[in-house]
Amino acid sequence: MRLAVISDIHSNFEALQSVLPQIDRDGVDAILNLGDIIGYNASPNECLELLWDRPVVSLAGNHDLALLEVSRAENFNIIAYQALLWSREQVKEGYLDFFRSLPITREGKGFIACHGTPTSTDAYLSYHFQGKRVFNYLRHLPDVRVCFFGHTHRRALWYRDIRGKIALISVRPYKMRLDKNCLYLINPGSVGQPRDGSPEAAYAVYDDEEFSIHFKSVPYDVKTAQRRILEAGLPEFLAERLAQGL
Ligand SMILES: [Fe+2]
Repeated sequence: MRLAVISDIHSNFEALQSVLPQIDRDGVDAILNLGDIIGYNASPNECLELLWDRPVVSLAGNHDLALLEVSRAENFNIIAYQALLWSREQVKEGYLDFFRSLPITREGKGFIACHGTPTSTDAYLSYHFQGKRVFNYLRHLPDVRVCFFGHTHRRALWYRDIRGKIALISVRPYKMRLDKNCLYLINPGSVGQPRDGSPEAAYAVYDDEEFSIHFKSVPYDVKTAQRRILEAGLPEFLAERLAQGL
């Protein structure tokens, strides 16, 4: 099975609109969305419309949950909080049941998927001790070899070998073979607000038969996404950061 893994779309219609045709060309069997459809950018309903007719399996992100319950945004920074309040006014009522239906985790053949970590939509997985914690959690899931996560908006590939060594592997722009004796934590990066230093919309293609991961990115119309942010009256920094990928 070939799976396109996307995350952190964050209401960026132009980015999502560029990524989906590329995913079609990748010839995948399914699309797995690790959450945060809304927040930060200016096109929540347009993104939902784009996803609506596709067989996308989505999870809840922390911004998606805060859309339903604003108290969950209390620890957001001020810019994220302002964008969330704006999103709450924009998202059409008809989509709210969809957000209520989103699961926190999802398991598939040999993998588990989550937004932050398998036990929290808000927790970040950036440092060694955080990776170790998640690998320890995976011990309770003997069939799982891969955990997909998002939330940091940065591509990442962690492994744990049979001796228990945990380390990051540099993400490469070509298909990377995985080792069946290792466990992996994989972050595909962000579609709508990448923070890898490149403005391109990021995602990944996972193949469970050849056991490989291919990190990909697609250029998109950043200028239009920025214009929509400014026209919506959202903080200017949200437009600036898109051009810089931060
Ligand atoms: Fe996010």
